[in-house]
Amino acid sequence: MTAHSAIPQADPVEIAVENGIRNLWYPVLASWQLGPTPLGVTRLGDRIVLWRDKDGEVRAVEDRCPHRGARLSLGCNLGDRVACWYHGVEVDAGGRVAAVPAVESAPMTGRKMLRSYSAVEAHGAIYLWFGEAEPVPLQVPEQLTSEAFSGFLCTAIWRCNYRYAHDNLMDLMHGAYLHAVSHSMSGGNKKAKMQLRETDAGFVYEKVDQAGQNFDWVEFGDTGVHWMRTTVPYGPGAGPGGPFWIVGMVAPITPDLCQVFFWRLRNVQGWQRDSWRFLYRNRLEGRHWAVLEQDRRILEALVPNARAQETLYEHDLGVVRLRRALAASARHQMPARNSSPVTA
Ligand code: FES
Ligand SMILES: [Fe+2]
Repeated sequence: MTAHSAIPQADPVEIAVENGIRNLWYPVLASWQLGPTPLGVTRLGDRIVLWRDKDGEVRAVEDRCPHRGARLSLGCNLGDRVACWYHGVEVDAGGRVAAVPAVESAPMTGRKMLRSYSAVEAHGAIYLWFGEAEPVPLQVPEQLTSEAFSGFLCTAIWRCNYRYAHDNLMDLMHGAYLHAVSHSMSGGNKKAKMQLRETDAGFVYEKVDQAGQNFDWVEFGDTGVHWMRTTVPYGPGAGPGGPFWIVGMVAPITPDLCQVFFWRLRNVQGWQRDSWRFLYRNRLEGRHWAVLEQDRRILEALVPNARAQETLYEHDLGVVRLRRALAASARHQMPARNSSPVTA
């Protein structure tokens, strides 16, 4: 076991953050990962079965048959329902038992017995709402929604607590060291001064003496989903389109596992868009994976319980600010967690 999840003391806020803050949207899969058959995933510790109904809409309920606990994700997709493989019990997208085909009548027929999840599919990802509160509208950075941007979603599972992936995104200086040998972050100074700037949705952490040369700024936002965005420079060999945008989100799976989502985007139109998409697929994607692998190797090999043994210095101000934001978010949703355990 990795001990990334160890919590120094049983602080309920720390525990809530560690396991995944609720009353938020999280991306749980790339769209391409969910085909016609039901799929079981674990996110924020919840085991969930997802499937597509006859219109392709994503449905999600707890992955547990109310009869005797088989995984519904091993069953069949009946469109508006899933059927358990074990004895055929059918459950609808609201978590209600729609049919018990093996008997004439069963008291559980028609009863809501499972937690269900609101789902949204957008810009190549499937999001679920985790929490007891009513879902808020999903709001994401404009780079994901604007027609002006064209991008690719890259996703991977990392063997670390999601908070380390978050911290890593807020850690500007690692670009010049960990990614010193890379196509996008080999330039710029290896020393910097940094500052925090508050925004409506979160904050920006940026280098005060350098811009456009490395990983020089990052923004965190909480808009019903936690996201970060940044730009890194591209050399002339990377084609038209100016700086390369990255929008990142991280979904906790278990305390020792997370799924990272990185959209890689450029503001490009017309032939420049075609050129960017061709170049990305043929040349840049492999290089980007190499950069992500550098992050993954560091994070998965952090010493056990790294967060409890840190000695931070001034560059870690962004990490500290982020941790404070997550703790505040967890504290805010704690009373709601003590109410009804069933989602919309
Ligand atoms: S366990 Fe699912 S139908 Fe029996
Ligand atoms: Fe990195």
